[in-house]
Amino acid sequence: MTTPLVTTIESVIFSEEAIAHAIERMAQEIARDYAGREVVLLGVLKGAVFVTADLARALDRIPQGPSKIELDFLGVSSYGNASRSSGEVRLVQDTSHSIEGKHVLVVEDIVDNGLTLSYLRMMLGARAPASLAAAVLLDKPFNRRVEVPVEYVGLTCPDEFVVGYGLDYQERYRTLPYVAKLRAETFTA
Ligand code: IMP
Repeated sequence: MTTPLVTTIESVIFSEEAIAHAIERMAQEIARDYAGREVVLLGVLKGAVFVTADLARALDRIPQGPSKIELDFLGVSSYGNASRSSGEVRLVQDTSHSIEGKHVLVVEDIVDNGLTLSYLRMMLGARAPASLAAAVLLDKPFNRRVEVPVEYVGLTCPDEFVVGYGLDYQERYRTLPYVAKLRAETFTA
């Protein structure tokens, strides 16, 4: 029998309110920097789906922000085990429009060893966007294997494997409205 979800959560690391505040603050910073410009929010599937949507709507509420907010997505899959990416990143779904000449803001759920974002910046940078920057909800700075610039950071995440608000463990827990740590036994279940 499957264990009920609620018993597998050990603790809430970032509440719904904390996430909403962080996104609001990121939106203020982005609105200031992209004021009057057209920006493409490029969400990285699947983890960044909620942060991309919430950031886009927060930006849209700021009157002095970008003149246009376009949404696009790309999908990557990284090899490795379920809780650590190996750094071998593969593009599994490309953007629906060309980014050439556009101001592109890559939106990611979390940066851990940095290899995924580093790969994306290199790949997208080669497509001649007008500018390229990254907004990341959670920064886990403890295990970086490459230094990668992150222009907008929501929250600094403890050195734990976390789930919720888009982040999954084996395709579960993405829909939790908060970010949480799982009980250790969940990983072996
Ligand atoms: P990086 O390549 O190690 O920077 O990791 C980026 C990707 O690894 C994220 O987009 C997530 O898919 C995954 N990841 C890293 N840390 C976590 C975590 O704590 N929970 C869930 N996924 C994670």
